[in-house]
Amino acid sequence: MSYAIICSSKTGNTEKLAQRAREVLGEKGEGPVADADLVLLGSWTDKGGMDPALADSLPQLVGKRVFLFGTCGFGGSQAYYDRVLDRFAAALPEGAQVVGRFMCQGQMPPAVRERYVKMAEHDPKKFEPMIENYDRALGHPDAADLDAFEEALRGAL
Ligand SMILES: Cc1cc2nc3c(=O)[nH]c(=O)nc-3n(C[C@H](O)[C@H](O)[C@H](O)COP(=O)(O)O)c2cc1C
Repeated sequence: MSYAIICSSKTGNTEKLAQRAREVLGEKGEGPVADADLVLLGSWTDKGGMDPALADSLPQLVGKRVFLFGTCGFGGSQAYYDRVLDRFAAALPEGAQVVGRFMCQGQMPPAVRERYVKMAEHDPKKFEPMIENYDRALGHPDAADLDAFEEALRGAL
């Protein structure tokens, strides 16, 4: 099977999923979108949706089978993951067919925690849960996330 990967990853979390996809699908099958039976479209979550920098890559997905994947900082809620994935899907052109999707938590840079700690001095009710979320995100995507991603991907093949 021929496939293509389009992935935006600023700090490497989403790239880990893309790398697992290459291991599952084989380096040999990867090529340009035009020739691909399946396109894997991955993004980090920016303000609840896909990285806008991917916009230029989306028109070529018309007529393509697309597997959507991503990572987001806010974890622990499948409902939130689904909302973000719905936003990803809504960014696709008409005629792109979503055949599978996956989202998991991705760790955030230390500067984010430092900001939360400062904010928590003024508004602990709001920011202490965000510090807890930050700490839970550390190490993600982890081995279990990558296995769950692989399972979702295999289910779409
Ligand atoms: C500017 C900016 C905006 C973000 N917006 C969100 C968001 O709306 N929701 C969320 O859950 N995570 C958000 N995040 C967290 C990242 O999506 C998350 O850490 C992701 O795993 C980063 O993936 P990457 O390492 O592939 O870049 C944001 C991060 C940055 C830097």
